[in-house]
Amino acid sequence: MMMFKSVGAVLVAVSVLEGSGFSVQSRSFLKRPLFGFRSRSSQSSALDMATATLEPIQASDLQGLEFPPQVTEPMSPSEKAELREERRAAMKPDWPLPKNTNVINALKGEEVEAVPVWMMRQAGRYLPEFRAVRAGSEFLKVCQDPGLASEVTVQPRRRYPELDACIIFSDILVVPQAMGQPLQMLPNRGPVFDWRLESPEDIKKLDLTPDVEDSLGYVFDAMYLTKKKVDNEVPIFGFCGAPWTILGYMVEGEGSRTWAETKRWLYDYPEESHKLLEAISRLSAKYLIGQWDSGAQMLQVFDTNAGVLPPHLYEEFGAKYMRMIADLVKAERPQALIVGFPKDMPLASFNDSSYDGIGLSWTADVQEMRERFPNKTLQGNMDAHILYANKDAIRKATHEMVKEFGKKRYVANLGHGMEPRMDPEHAKAFIQSIKEASSELE
Ligand SMILES: *[C@@H]1O[C@H](CO)[C@@H](O)[C@H](O)[C@H]1NC(C)=O
Ligand SMILES: *[C@@H]1O[C@H](CO)[C@@H](O)[C@H](O)[C@H]1NC(C)=O
Repeated sequence: MMMFKSVGAVLVAVSVLEGSGFSVQSRSFLKRPLFGFRSRSSQSSALDMATATLEPIQASDLQGLEFPPQVTEPMSPSEKAELREERRAAMKPDWPLPKNTNVINALKGEEVEAVPVWMMRQAGRYLPEFRAVRAGSEFLKVCQDPGLASEVTVQPRRRYPELDACIIFSDILVVPQAMGQPLQMLPNRGPVFDWRLESPEDIKKLDLTPDVEDSLGYVFDAMYLTKKKVDNEVPIFGFCGAPWTILGYMVEGEGSRTWAETKRWLYDYPEESHKLLEAISRLSAKYLIGQWDSGAQMLQVFDTNAGVLPPHLYEEFGAKYMRMIADLVKAERPQALIVGFPKDMPLASFNDSSYDGIGLSWTADVQEMRERFPNKTLQGNMDAHILYANKDAIRKATHEMVKEFGKKRYVANLGHGMEPRMDPEHAKAFIQSIKEASSELE
C-alpha cells in the first residue's frame, strides 16, 4: 500500500474549481506582461482545468497594481510549523458568527439584509493581483503555502467589498493526491496523474483511508490563517469535489471531454466503483469537517461532471455519494451549512438530502427548481459568459435574475467559475448589480 504523508512532497495541482490556471498556455505566452494578459479560451473542460507554470515576475511588474498583493513570498518551514501548532490547538466545531451573515442566513432559510453574492473561482487568474502571486509560485505551491493561499483567498474582497463570502483557495484534486495518486502538470496538456486507475487492480496502489491531518492539514492551516486575515468580517467556504467528479480524474488520469473511460468503469466494474466512491466520500467528509473546525462556516461539494451521466446512473453513482458526504458531515457537525453543486443535474432526490443549498448552473430553470426544492436555498446561476458582454447587458440580466429568484433562500452566484480572460470591471458590475437589484426587492 502506498502511503502519502509528506505535505512537502512535490505535488502539482489543477485548478479545477478555484484555481488560477485554466487555459493551457505556452511558456512564451506566459512571459507576456501582466497587464497584457490574455488567454486562449478553451472549449473543453479538460483544458479549462489545466494550469501552467508562470515565469517569475519582476518587481517592476508589481508597480501600478491597483490592489497589490500583501504577500508574494512563501512562508518559511518554521513559520509553517508554528502556524500548524497554533491551528491544531485552535480547532473547534463552533466559531463565532462573522459580522456579515448574509450567506449563512440565506442557507438557514432566514431573513437576509441583502441578497448575498459570491462568485465561483472568484480567486483566480482574471485578477492581476492573483497573477502577481501566481507568477512566483506554482499552483500547488500556492495551495500548500498557507500564507499565499490565504492571500489569494482574500484578494477578491479587497477589490469587491460587496462580496459576502470568501472560498478557500485550493483544488478538488488534493483528495486523490492524499490517497496516493500523484499529479504532474504538463505544459500544453494540463494535469496528468503519474498513473491512472486502468482496472480495479490499481485500487490496491491507493491508500483509501489516509490520515486527513497528515495528508490535507495544509488546507486546514490555510483556512485558519484566512480566518484570521478576514478578521471575521465574512464567512469562508471550505470545499471538496464530489466523488463522481474525482473518480473521473483518477480513472482517466487527466481531464477528458467525454469521461468515457470513467463511464466504462461504472458499467464494467460497478462494485469496485462503489467501493472507491464510498472511500472518496468518507475521506471527503473528514476533509470537510477539518476545514469546518479550522474556521470554515459554509461548505460546498462540487460535482462538476454531474451532467455527464444519464440521470439514473447519476442517481446511483453520483447523487448517492453527494448525499453520503453531507450526511456524514451533519452526523458530526449538525450545525454545518452545506451547498451541493450537482452541475447540470439538479436531481429531485437532493430535496431529501442533508444539503442546505443547491447550486445551479445556467442550464437550470428557476421556477422549476423552486418547485423541486421548496425547502432548499438555491445558489446561482448567471451565465458566467455574460461577463464578456457589455456592462449594461450584465446589469440587465443580473436584475432579471435576482427578481426571478427573489430575496428568500437565495445566494447569487454565477452558474460556473470565473475565467482568466474575464474583465474584473465586469465582475464588479455583476456584483454591484446584485446589490442594486436586491435593494429594489421587498
Ligand atoms: C421536498 O422536501 C420537503 C421536506 O423537506 C417536502 O415538504 C416537499 O414536499 C418536497 N418537495 C418535493 C418536490 O419533493
Ligand atoms: C417545505 O416546503 C413546503 C412547501 O413550501 C412546506 O409546505 C413545508 O412545510 C416545508 N417543510 C419543511 C420541513 O420545512
